[in-house]
Amino acid sequence: MRKQIAAANWKMNTTFQQGERLLDEILGAEVALAAHQHTIFAVPYPYLLMTRSEVEEEYNYSVAAQNCHHRKNGAYTGEVSAEMLHSMNINYCVVGHSERREYNGETNSMLAEKVNLCFEHYITPIFCCGEPLSIREAGTHNEFVTVQLKESLFHLPADSVKALILAYEPIWAIGTGKTATIEQAQEMHRHLRSVIAAQYRAAVADEISILYGGSVKANNAKELFSCPDVDGGLVGGASLVAADFVEIIKALK
Ligand code: PGA
Repeated sequence: MRKQIAAANWKMNTTFQQGERLLDEILGAEVALAAHQHTIFAVPYPYLLMTRSEVEEEYNYSVAAQNCHHRKNGAYTGEVSAEMLHSMNINYCVVGHSERREYNGETNSMLAEKVNLCFEHYITPIFCCGEPLSIREAGTHNEFVTVQLKESLFHLPADSVKALILAYEPIWAIGTGKTATIEQAQEMHRHLRSVIAAQYRAAVADEISILYGGSVKANNAKELFSCPDVDGGLVGGASLVAADFVEIIKALK
């Protein structure tokens, strides 16, 4: 079975102490994960080492950065490189979140650089794609996400593509409380898998975990995750409430 993943995206939330407490509460619930299940906490940079040591003893719980820079190193004040993350034993990194695309002008080609640097440093990218409302309303969402994959991922060899985690995040559903319907989620996830199958082969597409992101909550996670092509979620708001995120972890297939 493909890896089923509950990924928390804290964004720019919590103080250090609140973050520690949140992790203690979530891990204190002692949700035992099966071999094919995984929980990942994408936390702010200054909390990476604390989070890493919190999850160290836990089976299938990991830490992710929320971003890395698209250049290897150099005079980029305030930025963090994939190499730095690797040197801290961080093995996952969110790449191309829609908020970074929008507020930091990240383009598909910059994201291709980031993905390359992640792989060079043994970091699994959690690559985000997804369309804005205008594209959804125009009915061209399939084409839109296809271009995102093509321009950021399709230069990679099959083995790398197989190893990455994909997150479909319709921008109109992020932080809005408006979730894609089960049909919309399943249809898009199936589309993403078929695009990968066409570019590589079906066996590659079958192995990739595709997470749904956009107002995943404790009360809709089970239904969303039950879609055959939805392999868990990338969760913002609800990952900041321990009891809610615990329910989301429990909702994994
Ligand atoms: P949300 O955020 O769950 O608050 O909608 C999801 C995300 O942006 O990853």
